Amino acid sequence: MKKNNIYYNTKIESLLKAYPNSKFFLITDDNLFSLYQNFLTTTFANVDLSITTIPEGEKAKTIKEYQRVVELLIKAEIRRNDVIVAFGGGVVGDLAGFVAATILRGVTFINIPTTLLAMVDSALGGKVGINSEAGKNLIGAFKNADKIIVNEQFLKTLPQQELINGYGEIVKAAFISDRTIFSLLTDDQPSLKLIKKVQKVKLALVKSDYFDKNKRQYLNFGHSFAHAIEKESNYQVPHGYAVFQGMEIALKIGMVLKITTPSDLRLLEKYFSLYQIKPYQKPYFKLLKYLKNDKKNTQELTTLILIKERALIKTMKEVELDELLSLASEL
Ligand SMILES: NC(=O)c1ccc[n+]([C@@H]2O[C@H](COP(=O)([O-])OP(=O)(O)OC[C@H]3O[C@@H](n4cnc5c(N)ncnc54)[C@H](O)[C@@H]3O)[C@@H](O)[C@H]2O)c1
Repeated sequence: MKKNNIYYNTKIESLLKAYPNSKFFLITDDNLFSLYQNFLTTTFANVDLSITTIPEGEKAKTIKEYQRVVELLIKAEIRRNDVIVAFGGGVVGDLAGFVAATILRGVTFINIPTTLLAMVDSALGGKVGINSEAGKNLIGAFKNADKIIVNEQFLKTLPQQELINGYGEIVKAAFISDRTIFSLLTDDQPSLKLIKKVQKVKLALVKSDYFDKNKRQYLNFGHSFAHAIEKESNYQVPHGYAVFQGMEIALKIGMVLKITTPSDLRLLEKYFSLYQIKPYQKPYFKLLKYLKNDKKNTQELTTLILIKERALIKTMKEVELDELLSLASEL
């Protein structure tokens, strides 16, 4: 995906002129629809628009919901030159993008991210998809958005917990690639400058490794542990908090291996207090059984992203990881 597909604070109305003969099928969630209905009907007033809403949150990323939306769009006679627009966070973007990738073998897709996480992460990089009963994001495709329209004004209505989900990815990007990001992170509303810098980190990694075979895995820093923490808590720990906790575990493992410096752990701890996040409380080895199902791991080897100034990939056997987790837990 090219960086110039991203439009910052551009009037959406003017961008729609690029599709003169198309109908627009906008997908959003119930919550956003109630907040932004007037904005959407005004913005899309001059085009042929049909709006489909999905339930808010992760529960919408199912085959059932995917099928419901696809059938609705087919009934509404969607054609190959029509456009699917996602207006929402990562859930809407992932589901709408997957619909756009598959319906009629693919139609044009525009993504308008409304959460911080979607602006800095999920709307970029072309991964779209839904969950299987066996796990998250197991059904999907690569589908680049024709346009990604970023407007940080949407963040004014975003609840604090949702902002923290975005901050997790922002702190991750700073550690893995660009430490100048740290200086832009305050407890104020995120600035466009910050959003752009974080996007640059992801876009560079995606460009070098679109299909996620090597360097794109840096983006997984802290995430294997985060997914394990989320699973162990039966998804009661919000994703952003789990990412912060997961990054702490990964930094400590790096310290045990003498790869990571203690100053990096102190840096991370600053954000634990800024965003009022508690560290993971239990002995780390308890996460081992939840790490096994991570799709980034092969049968024998676990892949970890560690930090030595920037990110590096390390693979290890389960027994080694078990021992490391015990030692890291003591720090
Ligand atoms: N495709 C990728 O590369 C990728 C990367 C990271 C995460 N993801 C996926 O992203 C999803 C999480 O996305 P998310 O964190 O954006 O959550 P989300 O889409 O569930 O949105 C979170 C909540 O915020 C509300 N909301 C969204 N924008 C709002 C706004 N401007 N004002 C008020 N409320 C608003 C939504 O209605 C929802 O209730 C997960 O399913 C994850 O798997 C995908």
